[in-house]
Order: sequence, then C-alpha cells, then structure tokens
Amino acid sequence: MGSQRKVPAPPPLPLLLLLLLCTGPAWPDQAAYSRESSAGTTLISGQGLINLGQRWGSKSPLMHTRANLTEVTSIKSSFEFRTLDPEGVVFYGDTRGGADWFVLALRGGRPEMQIGKADVLTTVTGGPKLDDGMWHKIELRSEGRFVVLELDGEVALVVGLHSQQTQADLSGQIRLSLGGILITEQRLLNPLRMEMDGCVRAGTWLNLSTPWETDLSQELQPCFTWISKGSYFPGTGLAIFNSSDFPVDRSEVSIEMEGYDVSTWNGTVLSLKTSQGEPVLTVTAYNETEEFTVKFGTQTSTVKMEPFHLDLNLTKHALEVSDGPIMEDDTHDWLSMWNEGMVLAFGGVPDGTDDGSSPYLHGCLRLIRIQGQVVDLDRATYKHNSVSSHSCPRMRLPGVHAMPVVGSYMY
Ligand SMILES: *[C@@H]1O[C@H](CO)[C@@H](O)[C@H](O)[C@H]1NC(C)=O
Ligand SMILES: *[C@@H]1O[C@H](CO)[C@@H](O)[C@H](O)[C@H]1NC(C)=O
Ligand SMILES: *[C@@H]1O[C@H](CO)[C@@H](O)[C@H](O)[C@H]1NC(C)=O
Ligand SMILES: *[C@@H]1O[C@H](CO)[C@@H](O)[C@H](O)[C@H]1NC(C)=O
Ligand SMILES: *[C@@H]1O[C@H](CO)[C@@H](O)[C@H](O)[C@H]1NC(C)=O
Ligand SMILES: *[C@@H]1O[C@H](CO)[C@@H](O)[C@H](O)[C@H]1NC(C)=O
Repeated sequence: MGSQRKVPAPPPLPLLLLLLLCTGPAWPDQAAYSRESSAGTTLISGQGLINLGQRWGSKSPLMHTRANLTEVTSIKSSFEFRTLDPEGVVFYGDTRGGADWFVLALRGGRPEMQIGKADVLTTVTGGPKLDDGMWHKIELRSEGRFVVLELDGEVALVVGLHSQQTQADLSGQIRLSLGGILITEQRLLNPLRMEMDGCVRAGTWLNLSTPWETDLSQELQPCFTWISKGSYFPGTGLAIFNSSDFPVDRSEVSIEMEGYDVSTWNGTVLSLKTSQGEPVLTVTAYNETEEFTVKFGTQTSTVKMEPFHLDLNLTKHALEVSDGPIMEDDTHDWLSMWNEGMVLAFGGVPDGTDDGSSPYLHGCLRLIRIQGQVVDLDRATYKHNSVSSHSCPRMRLPGVHAMPVVGSYMY
C-alpha cells in the first residue's frame, strides 16, 4: 500500500498551524516572552504520560514549550488522549507571541478547534465524542489553509481560514502548551471551561525534541491505569461551592451522592458551614464500621451505609438522611440560609474542625446531584489539585470494583 501513497508536496511552510503564520509588524509580547527565565521551572519530555489536570485557579497551562520556526520540520502533531471530562483545553499553539493562536479543546465531549489569526476568529465543534474514558489517537496537521483533526485514523474535523491581512513568515517562534492557553480567555471566540481532567501520552509535537517546561511548585498528578466515571478524593483535599449556586425553590434541598462501593469511603463526605464559618452539617464515613456519623447543629447520629448511595434532604428546620433519622433543628431557616449562601464542601471541612474529627475523604463519588442537577467539580469555587473532578481509579480485578468504565452501570 505504501507504494501507492502519494508523496506529499512539500508544504509551503514548515509549520503545524501553517495558517497561523503570518508577518506582523510586531511581536506583541515578545519582550515578556524572552524575559521568561527557566528559574522555577522544570523540564519534562512531551512524550510521556501526562495528566492535564492543572493547578486549581491557575489560568496558566500545565506545561509549555517553544521553538524557532526555522527549527520546525513537521507540520503535524500527534498524541493519544483519554478523558471522561466533557469540557476543557487539551492543546494550544501560537505564533507572533500569541497574536495568532490555535486551541484544541473538548466541549460536550466533542473536539473543538478555535483559531485566531489577524482579524479573523473561527471555531468548529463536532465529530465523535471523546469523553468515553478510552485512549484515542489524535493527529493535527496543517494542509494549506486548513487544519485537519484526525481521530483514531479518521478525519473528524477540518477548519479553513484565510485572511487577506496575513503573509507568510518563517521567522520568530512558535509556542505550544498543554492543559491551558497562553493568551487571555477573553480572546476565545467561544468561552470555555479550561480545566481538563484528562491524560496525554505518546506525543510528538511538530517533531520537536525540545523539552517542555512546567512549574516546579506544581505537583504533577498521576494518570490512573484504569478509570471510571466519578470524582476521586484521595484523602488530601476537598472541593468547595457556594450553596447559593444551587438555588432552591422547593420545601427541601436534596443532595444525592452515589458510589460504586460506598463501604470503601472513609473521611468527611460532605460539610456545610454558615458564611460566618459556623458548622451546620458534617457527614463523615467510617469504612471500618461501615457507618456515617452525621452532625447537624448540636445533634449527632450514626447511620448505617447503603451500598451505593447517600441521600440527604435539608428542609427549613430539619435534615433527613436516607434510611436514617430525621434530625430537627429550628434555630434557623436552613432553606433561606442555603439560598443566601453557605459554604458547601465535598471531601472535607474547610479550615477543619476544632476537634480534628473531619479527615479528608478517601473515596470515589460516582455522581453528585443537588436538586437533581449533576454537580461538576470543575465548577467549584475551590478544588484541591489532588481531587480529580471526572475520573476515579478503577481496579481491573473482577469483583466489587470491576464496574464498567462508563456510566452505564445502574445499581
Ligand atoms: C532561535 O532564534 C534566536 C534568534 O532569533 C537565537 O538566538 C536562538 O539561538 C535560536 N534558538 C535555537 C535553538 O536555534
Ligand atoms: C523528525 O526528527 C527526526 C530527528 O530529529 C528526523 O530524523 C525526522 O526526519 C523528522 N521527521 C519529520 C517528518 O520531519
Ligand atoms: C478504608 O479507607 C482507607 C483510607 O482512609 C483505605 O486505605 C482503605 O482501603 C479503606 N478500606 C476499605 C475496606 O475500603
Ligand atoms: C478511616 O478514617 C479514620 C479517621 O476518620 C482513620 O482513623 C482510620 O484509620 C481510617 N481507616 C483506614 C482503614 O484507613
Ligand atoms: C427527599 O425528598 C424527596 C421528595 O420529597 C423524597 O422523594 C426523598 O425520598 C427524600 N429523601 C430523603 C433522604 O429523605
Ligand atoms: C455566596 O453567594 C452569595 C450570592 O449568591 C454571596 O452573597 C456570598 O457572598 C457568597 N459567599 C461566598 C462565601 O462567596
């Protein structure tokens, strides 16, 4: 078959995002760029297994690299990618210090390419869903005025762009980044939730051998060998929301949490504090006894674990726990407090408890729902880096852990 393959004509310009290339009068932030020192950064290979889950709250990419355009010998990048996260940034590239840029992201689980070049912005979303927890091969290449995205060997998306204002230019540098972008979010045509809980491996980036730089202060998260849907708390951190993000207009707030095996949960699953920091509710799992301790106001109850879920209803003056007691507390109107904004945390108690009785959760929450709506930890106001928002490690052994990878599992 190889003999039938046409020898591709040499590309007019040796660059992946050929169409990004153009002459401009200035390199907008080249000064800032060259000031960047390698102090405080560490160099890693772009070919290894890389978890794109980035520092929470940091808008900068997980890692980046750069090269002189004259060094670029290939117009193609390829890598394998695995995620259960429907939205986030995978790969970014730019020239002219960010004046011309390219973003590969996921939206609704499908690939999306956004391009900004001179005065033109374009975006295209489509192709098969990628957020199925399987490894997929992705190839990006430039073909004249088009960028082609191939998924598992099939062309999935093509985007073309032409601007009269642009001219080809071989000078200057190209920058690449993973898990984030190097320009401000405002410049995207279609705003995007940047955080991506996904892994990349076997990357070849424009055939560059340059190592990538990553921030030293940041601990790279591991990629689990096998994953299943859910939010994973390894026992070292929590995620915080403002309860008013989930406004209630009924007579109760319902909070539902599901697990593949609730009896493995250990630590504080959920907590609620007033905006003044007074504890309202703490639910702590003990896997040795397979019980939850529920503290609501001044009362404490013990609730036997159900195998797959924990449901709570907070009403004006009471808390109801699935297959547990109804705990009453009429010192406040809890629904009004909820709507005004309390500190709602999954996986621990913000700032801890006085008696240290609230260790961080170790366990996988398969699904969290408030008022029937699925809670996405990527939308938290704070999330510890160790918490994976969309993937839990999964044992491959048969038995209680061998659940299907994706959400088809029903209990
Ligand atoms: C890239 O180009 C700059 C000047 O344009 C030069 O100083 C530098 O050595 C080049 N880097 C490499 C790796 O060739
Ligand atoms: C990639 O780089 C290697 C060595 O750095 C070189 O031998 C090979 O020809 C390059 N491939 C392309 C497509 O440029
Ligand atoms: C109980 O939780 C701990 C973490 O706190 C974990 O290491 C252990 O495997 C769990 N035990 C069971 C039986 O799930
Ligand atoms: C579960 O967490 C408790 C603290 O709440 C800890 O004392 C206990 O050792 C943990 N269990 C296991 C099996 O690690
Ligand atoms: C919460 O309220 C809903 C609707 O009233 C009910 O179906 C559900 O069983 C309640 N759950 C608990 C834990 O009380
Ligand atoms: C929670 O949101 C409300 C508005 O809905 C706001 O008034 C309050 O300050 C927020 N609380 C925190 C801790 O951010």
